[in-house]
Amino acid sequence: MKGGAAIGIFDSGIGGLTVAREIAARLPHETLIYLGDTARLPYGSKSAETVIKYAVRNVSFLKKHELKAIVVACNTASAVVLPALREIVDIPVLGVIEPGAQAAVAATRDGTIGIIGQPGTIRSGRYETAVLQRLPNATVYSLATPLLVPLAEEGWLGTEVSRLVLKEYLAPLMEREIDTLVLGCTHYPLFKPEIAKLCADTFKLDVVLVDSAVSITTELEQHLAMLVQLNETGAPRHRFFATDSAETFRQVGAAFWGGEFPQVLHIDL
Ligand code: DGL
Repeated sequence: MKGGAAIGIFDSGIGGLTVAREIAARLPHETLIYLGDTARLPYGSKSAETVIKYAVRNVSFLKKHELKAIVVACNTASAVVLPALREIVDIPVLGVIEPGAQAAVAATRDGTIGIIGQPGTIRSGRYETAVLQRLPNATVYSLATPLLVPLAEEGWLGTEVSRLVLKEYLAPLMEREIDTLVLGCTHYPLFKPEIAKLCADTFKLDVVLVDSAVSITTELEQHLAMLVQLNETGAPRHRFFATDSAETFRQVGAAFWGGEFPQVLHIDL
């Protein structure tokens, strides 16, 4: 019966749709129940205590559905909420930090790794710890790059403004000659082509970009396969919920999800 259960995903808002999109593409028979806590966005500038409080509320809502796993798509939340959430549900709760760190360690050639994310993620030091647990000799440079979130939400991708902001942010990491860069925020995968071009053309470096949406999907797939809960057939029936305007979620989220939404419902939490 568990095969019929859905995968619950939550994020502070629309950014986690980059994770949902990757999961939907790679696990096309799984139904996703997505909650964007748009009324309380951003999480990246808030304290760990506040983010935990919000995450517990989000999971209390998701739990009303029949679920077989919960994915914390938000990097900021993944950094601080997993222990609290694992106390209130008895299904697997997966975050993006560990799989992202694992992918960075697998990708690095000489152990010099850069991490960019929201201030809360960087302040937590979770990515750095997760990398060093796996590769104690690694040299990790972490940097908060908060301007990228509003740039992505305003749709200013591929513009001169985004190029300048990325160049300014990334220069100190590139001076350290990192060979791997973890995109430690839900919004950053949208900048992948621009970052790749900057690394190659401007900084003349061969840098592997680690997208935590890709890494978490691999972990989720392995997890469900191990538990014999992976759906191999059937059409998904995704559902999307937002704590602020459903219309804004639909409009701004389209670029992150990569298409139209079947349905977005507003909920109060
Ligand atoms: N979802 C957040 C993250 O991945 C970015 C947006 C926010 O700060 O709420 O860290």
